[in-house]
Amino acid sequence: MNIILLGPPGAGKGTQAVRLEDEHGMVQLSTGDMLRAAVKAGTPIGLQAKAVMDAGELVSDAIVSGLIGERLDELGSDVSVIFDGYPRTAAQADSLDEILSARGRKLDHVIELQVEEDALVDRITGRFSCAKCGAGYHDRYKLPKVDNVCDVCGSDEFKRRPDDNEETVRTRMAEYRAKTAPILPIYEARGIVAHVDGMAPIDQVNEAIEAILATATAS
Ligand code: AP5
Repeated sequence: MNIILLGPPGAGKGTQAVRLEDEHGMVQLSTGDMLRAAVKAGTPIGLQAKAVMDAGELVSDAIVSGLIGERLDELGSDVSVIFDGYPRTAAQADSLDEILSARGRKLDHVIELQVEEDALVDRITGRFSCAKCGAGYHDRYKLPKVDNVCDVCGSDEFKRRPDDNEETVRTRMAEYRAKTAPILPIYEARGIVAHVDGMAPIDQVNEAIEAILATATAS
């Protein structure tokens, strides 16, 4: 199965993708995570991407589509994948069609997480993650069970993303409205879009996604 989690910054794509990985053995392909890893490693792609990401703008279509193609080749054909943060432009949507068809894959679902803009700013500016294992948390909605100790790996080091400030978030949202939201009709025309209320609590959003996947498996 190949699914896209589509939604604005902070909609919960990463949160839900990790749940699906745990529950179904699917693999999350997050272009944001791939780019951040490239920045951290200081690769040529990372050096090119850093300033663009810090400004909240979009990295070039060729770079992100190249990353997705390479990662799919590493995974092989039997693995189910969740595209998180890709595609983000009409050109990337075209590339994804080519990438999938060249590898004998097809897109099964596009799940749109719908969240109000004020809630997105609140979520992103409160977000932090474990510096060691990357587990995600939030100042109010998802704190570690024990103060300052990661639930997953026990580390006491946490970090925040440099682009998680209000000014950059507003730019990321404007980019989403201008370039990403317009690709939804491409998939609606194919009858593969499901809309989920992303304002609901994390567990309920997960249940709604599970229901969509279960219907698909049954049919
Ligand atoms: P990327 O890393 O993809 O960031 P994003 O799309 O802005 O999305 P986020 O990761 O910020 O949000 P999310 O939807 O995953 O939310 P999360 O689950 O963390 O991209 C970063 C940058 O990289 C881009 O700006 C661009 O420069 C570049 N880039 C990446 N892909 C690209 C591409 N394809 N093309 C070009 N450039 C690209 O949740 C957020 C917070 O809310 C968390 O704290 C979480 O705990 C909490 N939360 C989640 N769900 C709920 C809920 N239901 N209720 C309450 N809280 C919740």
